[in-house]
Amino acid sequence: MDQKAKVVVTGGAGFIGSNIVDALLEEGMLPIVIDDLSTGEQKNVNEKALMYQQDIRDIKGLEEIFEKHHPTYVLHLAAQISVSRSVREPVYDEEVNIKGILNVLELSVKYGVKKFVFSSSGGVMYGENPEIFPTPETICPDPVSPYGIAKLSGEKYLKFYNREKGLRYTILRYGNVYGPRQSPDGEAGVIAIFAKKMLNGVPVTINGDGEYIRDYVYVKDVVKANLLALEKGDGEIFNIGTGTGKSVNDVFNALKEHIDYDPDPIYGPPRPGDLRKSILDISRAQNILGWSPNYSFEKGIGETVKYFKENGQTI
Ligand SMILES: NC(=O)c1ccc[n+]([C@@H]2O[C@H](COP(=O)([O-])OP(=O)(O)OC[C@H]3O[C@@H](n4cnc5c(N)ncnc54)[C@H](O)[C@@H]3O)[C@@H](O)[C@H]2O)c1
Repeated sequence: MDQKAKVVVTGGAGFIGSNIVDALLEEGMLPIVIDDLSTGEQKNVNEKALMYQQDIRDIKGLEEIFEKHHPTYVLHLAAQISVSRSVREPVYDEEVNIKGILNVLELSVKYGVKKFVFSSSGGVMYGENPEIFPTPETICPDPVSPYGIAKLSGEKYLKFYNREKGLRYTILRYGNVYGPRQSPDGEAGVIAIFAKKMLNGVPVTINGDGEYIRDYVYVKDVVKANLLALEKGDGEIFNIGTGTGKSVNDVFNALKEHIDYDPDPIYGPPRPGDLRKSILDISRAQNILGWSPNYSFEKGIGETVKYFKENGQTI
């Protein structure tokens, strides 16, 4: 790997991006964070990284950063990440998640970026009923939400920029990522949300019967996939998950193992539009990228609870 590489991390003040920034610094690279701090936080950003508070919708501001630093790589994570907000505000979602990636792609070509790695979503890409579980990348995408439609558009634009302008890329489709620095205050990220409530002794509500299945992948494993993709997996799409599914009830029970919390969960109405089941086939990432998850669900949950305990999620 190029030790002196300058790596633009859009969304680098967010949950996954800030963990990537730390790993890049450990590898001796220089992370250049571009983030508007809409959901990310300055305190997440390692002080050894360069930080620009910048909206990816504003290409002029973005270009000043590219012109100044001539980055070697781009890891594109900045996004409007809420599926339900995308349903309520599809135009805003489009501006950040489609126009935003286009701006970053234009500049990546103009300034000769060596590789572009895109954070896409395996959780929303395969639609309501992919029929095969774990689901491989070869299943025809069928996203139903504007968020998913925008992620698929981003993927298609990458192929276009590769074919027409020679930009090298890798697409990573994540399962449900969890771990340190995930916001417990949003509507996504059930592990962070439950952990905060349970640490504070606040009742936990499970939407529906709690048997909605997801592929939960620990953030450090996602970080590792991004670092590998700087050099490997050109022109490929990889699911990044664990190949196994856990229910929301499993999440609740696993957290209970680590948190002194007695009450049973309260079961509320199901959330409209929630997919019943999503599990990703990860064999392609294992075979081509040489990537495998290191964290079991139990180990990842343990690390996450430890982080929330140490970082003030208790009253
Ligand atoms: N967390 C998951 O389970 C998951 C699953 C699949 C894909 N992803 C993708 O991974 C990426 C990172 O997600 P995350 O979970 O770390 O969420 P996050 O909200 O913590 O990170 C997103 C970051 O993008 C920034 N951002 C938003 N709009 C911006 C704009 N207009 N200009 C500049 N910066 C902007 C936010 O401030 C934030 O720091 C996203 O692209 C998301 O779609 C996440």
